[in-house]
Amino acid sequence: MKQVSMINLLKSLSGVMDLVSNSVVSHHKKVAYIAYKIAKEMKINSNQLKNLVMASLIHDIGVFYLNIDLDKKSFDERENMHALVGYYLLNENNTLNKISNIIRDHHHDWEKIQSDDISVATNILHVADQIAFLTEEYDMYNDNNKICKIVSKESGKDYCPDALLAFNKLAAQEYFCLDIESPTAIERKLDKIMKIFAENITGASLLDISKIISYIVDFRSPFTTTHSIGIAKVAKELIKLMKYSLEDQLTMEIAGYLHDVGKLIVPPRILNKNGPLNKAEWKKMRTHTYYTYQVLEPINELPHLKEWAGFHHETLDGQGYPFHLKGEKLSPGARVMAVADIFTAVTEDRPYRKGMNKSQVIKVLNDLAENNQLDKDIVNLLLDNYHSINSIREGIQVKAQAHFLNFRNKIDRKVELYR
Ligand SMILES: [Fe+2]
Ligand SMILES: [Fe+2]
Ligand SMILES: [Fe+2]
Repeated sequence: MKQVSMINLLKSLSGVMDLVSNSVVSHHKKVAYIAYKIAKEMKINSNQLKNLVMASLIHDIGVFYLNIDLDKKSFDERENMHALVGYYLLNENNTLNKISNIIRDHHHDWEKIQSDDISVATNILHVADQIAFLTEEYDMYNDNNKICKIVSKESGKDYCPDALLAFNKLAAQEYFCLDIESPTAIERKLDKIMKIFAENITGASLLDISKIISYIVDFRSPFTTTHSIGIAKVAKELIKLMKYSLEDQLTMEIAGYLHDVGKLIVPPRILNKNGPLNKAEWKKMRTHTYYTYQVLEPINELPHLKEWAGFHHETLDGQGYPFHLKGEKLSPGARVMAVADIFTAVTEDRPYRKGMNKSQVIKVLNDLAENNQLDKDIVNLLLDNYHSINSIREGIQVKAQAHFLNFRNKIDRKVELYR
């Protein structure tokens, strides 16, 4: 299978995370750029530098699980849990565990974490993060001295003196201050930086990372804790039966894990609402596939990925969303995902209802096929293999639910400590 640029994936993910917040503009990208510049000044080694930039791009990923507000300038003790949650999520993963350690302590005082390899990157991230927040309040170009003064007060206590020294040097340069005030400049500079770091990962690693991302998406709502893993396996089984290549099967599984990644921009009060959504809430909810498509667009190594994931609410009659694609415009892979999504949604147990039985499922799927929404042949293929596909779905979701409960217990125990 083709190799995929890891940094591209993290960059697009950080882009979605930044969409969540209205007032903090491109926080993750800004932090990544500031951290990179400070680290360069401090001449840290290239491996550490790469891990630092990757960590910076997704450092607040834990806020999604905790459903806390990214707009706040500083998080209190309890909310610092987001750093620990980020650590727990990423630490299980072979490719991302090297950055999980950097994320774990990114709000800790410098005094408390010094003198090992991880701490240099963590300390730089901590400083860069706080500076990024200050630039939401002050203008980096006009108020650079004020920003330096504010952070320097905490030198040797909250913040690493060497990192502050490096920052002070940068803040004295006009181009740097102007960069910080310009999201397009940051974007451009980051693209350049990423090229230096080009780290390609194998399809198998991408699969692992996608699974972690699916946890971040699914764990936000008690209704969907195992949804993405279910759809990933169902969709993969279907195209296996359709004799697609191993590479396509892997792409489909990844697409399943990531199909709802755009839901990160939907606020929890809508995701978890008990009862029907009103018009405005429904409009917000519908945007998720648009953002899924956007996040996956830069991953051009797997050309089908964005379609197979992003078109899962399109229907053959053109009444789906958000692209309103009709008939031929929907590839077989996109049709498979649409079938797998509905099948998984109706068969899985949710806290407020049991999953449907076989005859109910047959009716729902056949009706949708009759109404020219789902592909009839794919529905038939699924129904012909109902037993095997449904037991794969059920088995994997039971396992995933146990994993989720274990994760939740771990976090709940830690949250208790802060109460
Ligand atoms: Fe944070
Ligand atoms: Fe942050
Ligand atoms: Fe969806």
